[in-house]
Amino acid sequence: MVIFKKLANFDKKRRIFFLEKLEMNQKNKIFDHFLNVIKNTDKDEKEVFYKNIHGKLKKYFEEEAESREYLVDMDLDKSRIKIESLIKETEEEIYEALAYTENLKSKIKKHRKLMKANRWKDIKIITDNFKNIPEPPEQKDYDEDSKIIELPEPDKDIIKKENIYNCITERESRRKYSDESLSLKELSYLLYATQGVRERNDNYHKKTVPSGGARQPFETYIAVNNIEDLKRGIYRYLIFEHKLLYMKSPDNQKRLLKDAALGQEFVANSAAVFFWAALPYRVEWGYFLKSHKIILLEGGHVCQNLYLASESINCGTCAIGAYDQEKSDELLELDGEDEFVIYLAPVGKV
Ligand SMILES: Cc1cc2nc3c(=O)[nH]c(=O)nc-3n(C[C@H](O)[C@H](O)[C@H](O)COP(=O)(O)O)c2cc1C
Repeated sequence: MVIFKKLANFDKKRRIFFLEKLEMNQKNKIFDHFLNVIKNTDKDEKEVFYKNIHGKLKKYFEEEAESREYLVDMDLDKSRIKIESLIKETEEEIYEALAYTENLKSKIKKHRKLMKANRWKDIKIITDNFKNIPEPPEQKDYDEDSKIIELPEPDKDIIKKENIYNCITERESRRKYSDESLSLKELSYLLYATQGVRERNDNYHKKTVPSGGARQPFETYIAVNNIEDLKRGIYRYLIFEHKLLYMKSPDNQKRLLKDAALGQEFVANSAAVFFWAALPYRVEWGYFLKSHKIILLEGGHVCQNLYLASESINCGTCAIGAYDQEKSDELLELDGEDEFVIYLAPVGKV
């Protein structure tokens, strides 16, 4: 077990080196352990193992469906004979697959921890808030000389479906949009519904969506494809001003959007794409390890408001969690460490 833990943390080069140095009896121990792992894992875990093996070993299991079944059904005597000859040829692959499986288990555990509540008392002691370190800005700075676009005040007159019950029941993820543009008024309303400021004092501001401790971790970026009176391009929403800050108009914006959404073409075919980027330190300042769960939960609130607000003006949206982190961050010129995309959603007329 120790060996596997060790192997799991090695990169491929070190793993091969390590295996080459192993004495034969240790190799046999590993082989026994391999069989034991197989024996002691349940059917689902074995499937994970099969999914993660590759190369010769995978081919072997695919071709030799019978031996695969022996393993799944734990008929180890039969499977042992079958795989013994193979094991010499494919040693490295087996170790890798096992190490990967072990790694996966510890990764899942780590990720699950994020979903759980963190201990309040410990956290209070170490937060920057507690140390009297000044609070980070509530909105990202910008150059006063930037091109700033005025937005119309949010106006409920644009609403076509007024009944909240209907908006809730008729909401669905929509992935087909017409060529019709959205008006600036509609964009203004959607920005207000998702991140609009409704109250502000010296200590905090409150928005149209809830935020743990009113820490407000997001900046909103909009990729404009088809909005009346607005040049195609990338913009940042200035929450306190309720204005847009123009950033750039990439030539190949549609392709960049499609790539950012891992090839999901409908994202690029929308009138606009909302990107929500998290600045984790805004929350970490007050809540340290508790922050990351809070931030992700908040993303859900924001996007749900986009769903409901879109529904009320005959538009459609679709939450996008399957996106390319690097490409999305790069498109919005985010550093990917202190600010990065966590969620996006295209909007269009339906
Ligand atoms: C966190 C999250 C991530 C999602 N990611 C995607 C996505 O990347 N692509 C997509 O087409 N739909 C995505 N969806 C939409 C779901 O597929 C959709 O909500 C689900 O099928 C239920 O359908 P409904 O929203 O119409 O009720 C996502 C939804 C959520 C909540």
